[in-house]
Amino acid sequence: MSEFHSDSKIVDIEQHLQKLYILINKFRWLIDIYISDFFTEKLCERVNKSWWATLTSLKSEELLSLLSDGQWKSSKVWPLGLLAYRRAIHSLSLKRYIPESVKFKDGQYLNLNQIFRKHVKPKKQHEIHSAAKLINDISQNVGSNSLIDFGGGQGHLSRLLSYQYGLNAITIDACSDHQVKNEIFDREIERVLRNDVNVQRCHVIETIQTDTIPNQFIDKINQTTINQKDKNHQLLKNLDQNEQLDKKFTFITLHGCGNLIPTILRLYSNCTSAVGLVNVSCCYMKMDELTSFPLSSFLRSKSDSNLSWEAKELACHFIDSYMEKLMENHPNLKSHCYRAAMQEVLKEKDETFCNSTIKLKVKNIYEMNFTTYAEKVLEKLKFSPGLTEYQEERSKERLLKWFDVVVLYVLRLAIAPVIESVILLDRLLFLKEQGFKSYIQPIFDPSVSPRNFALISEKI
Ligand SMILES: C[S@@+](CC[C@H](N)C(=O)[O-])C[C@H]1O[C@@H](n2cnc3c(N)ncnc32)[C@H](O)[C@@H]1O
Repeated sequence: MSEFHSDSKIVDIEQHLQKLYILINKFRWLIDIYISDFFTEKLCERVNKSWWATLTSLKSEELLSLLSDGQWKSSKVWPLGLLAYRRAIHSLSLKRYIPESVKFKDGQYLNLNQIFRKHVKPKKQHEIHSAAKLINDISQNVGSNSLIDFGGGQGHLSRLLSYQYGLNAITIDACSDHQVKNEIFDREIERVLRNDVNVQRCHVIETIQTDTIPNQFIDKINQTTINQKDKNHQLLKNLDQNEQLDKKFTFITLHGCGNLIPTILRLYSNCTSAVGLVNVSCCYMKMDELTSFPLSSFLRSKSDSNLSWEAKELACHFIDSYMEKLMENHPNLKSHCYRAAMQEVLKEKDETFCNSTIKLKVKNIYEMNFTTYAEKVLEKLKFSPGLTEYQEERSKERLLKWFDVVVLYVLRLAIAPVIESVILLDRLLFLKEQGFKSYIQPIFDPSVSPRNFALISEKI
């Protein structure tokens, strides 16, 4: 159970958000940087000197203590400010661990029935297994046996909910390729289950716009499905608010990116036939500032509640995976240093180059020397090839500093859960402000699935 349960008071969430913003405002200088600017902007000079001296004298696995609430391993005495930074982050962030870690056997999540594992990656197998159980419980609580899966992708979650739990489902996704696969995978399962299928399923290709309002949405979906010979499009009629409603819907979204979840939250709060909601977010940086963040009236009334693109991107990092790398002192830890050394070269090739947001992903960087890496990046960016002798020599020296880059990366990564907590609590508060029973709960193992918080709501 999360610390924000269905009975949490609005005032408690508001106060908690205020505390989170105190931390954010104090560390915006750290949140809003790009690690790739480590050398070009001399970023380490911005860090408190005693913090820097302590952190750079630690071993890689000791840096874990900053990222983990539980594990404390340090051969050094930490400055009080650094200890307070760590403590504040861990006490204010939403608790992301679930009671049991997830086990895979032969790369498969065996708790999920074999027929639902086909075409599904192991990570997603765990996700749909856990999410479906929860969604089924919520559907029962709110007395609904139909759901709409927004951004349903290839429909793995709603397929499980239909064919294992017996719930009717409409999947909506902007991508037509996904919907083709949806149909194919449904037929495959139906062939296995033969006559045991007694659910309605319907797949709609539609982009949900941020300004969508419920009735327009219903009309559009009806319009799109009207020509489909789908046996189920009748299901959609039950959403029309002007009709006598006999169906209630649970709105679900698994890893809805950018504006999708905020849009669904608005639809949910304005659509009387939507009675339950379960969603898990991802890609916060794709949110549009004007429409999607903040959502709650409380944060909207504050002038300093904005979050930069860098902050929202930071909230999407995979902390538990990085913790594993620190534990193993993995050679891949050096990759941020390669990128930062490259930034100097890029600036020299083109002084206007400032797009640190460009992801210059090169696989297994640590296995190559800097010159080989640099050639790959220059080719990707269509820059003139070749490094000067000076650039080659300087980069060699820079790479000796790889642990310093890791230290700054970890110091910044540590505060990521604070940003994610703000975004999720804003959404929770928005629902509470409408008077809906709502809460947040971690439902996946964060070492497998980093975006693991479900936002749950019931109109009862
Ligand atoms: C990260 S994927 C998740 C897919 C699926 N729920 C899963 O967990 O496998 C997000 C999906 O949302 C869809 N999507 C994003 N924004 C959308 C929008 N505004 N309207 C409809 N679909 C959208 C994308 O096409 C994509 O398939």
